[in-house]
Amino acid sequence: MAFFARITSKVVAQDSSHHDDASSSTSINACIMGRLTWESIPHKFRPLTSRLNIIVSRNPHYLDDKPEKDNPLVALAPSLDAALDLVASMQKPTPTTTTTTTPSSSSTTSSAPAVQIERVFLIGGAQLYNEGIESKHCQHIFLTRIQSTVECDTFFPEIRPQQYRLLPGPESHAFLESYLQEPVQGGRIQEGEFEFEYTVYDRVV
Ligand SMILES: NC(=O)c1ccc[n+]([C@@H]2O[C@H](COP(=O)([O-])OP(=O)(O)OC[C@H]3O[C@@H](n4cnc5c(N)ncnc54)[C@H](OP(=O)(O)O)[C@@H]3O)[C@@H](O)[C@H]2O)c1
Repeated sequence: MAFFARITSKVVAQDSSHHDDASSSTSINACIMGRLTWESIPHKFRPLTSRLNIIVSRNPHYLDDKPEKDNPLVALAPSLDAALDLVASMQKPTPTTTTTTTPSSSSTTSSAPAVQIERVFLIGGAQLYNEGIESKHCQHIFLTRIQSTVECDTFFPEIRPQQYRLLPGPESHAFLESYLQEPVQGGRIQEGEFEFEYTVYDRVV
């Protein structure tokens, strides 16, 4: 969970040559999640701090009676595509574009904050992962492999090797250190009764 918070929170400018574009606004990452995943986050930990939390729900009134309704870190989107459109409208303009982009209000039912989005993470659950890993927008899968057998009721979809390549241990580690621009523990990590390893899959097609 600590690594999840770290990788989704750390803001690393995507293109330093246009870093000035971000100078007038706050840069944060976005976490897109299904409505059930949002509800699975304990109240005291939501919204996830320093990240734009985008809840995907078919219910356009989902936030109407919720305490987070007017929270600038929370937005509601009617589909995964709408959530991706929202973040695209909040990412820095392309080099040829000089206009300032503002969040689109048409795809959401809550006003989005005046921030610039850097990285976008789809954080579950199974329903959203099923749709998300098929999207060409999904470039990497960050998977923490836990060396235990645990009873579960929700599952990550099959990762097809034709679609994603598992980077071997040292390559996953080097990728993560470059991605986060800071040291990351590599190899098998022991914590209490659990042993786990951070792995990365890269989209191949
Ligand atoms: N270990 C992990 O990495 C991890 C990560 C995340 C979550 N989880 C766990 O996964 C569980 C939740 O996963 P889940 O699969 O049951 O639910 P989920 O994907 O988090 O949320 C499902 C809900 O999202 C909305 N939704 C899904 N697809 C949609 C679409 N195409 N368009 C519009 N809305 C859509 C619907 O909300 P409405 O019903 O409101 O329309 C649907 O009921 C929780 O137990 C959570 O703890 C684990």
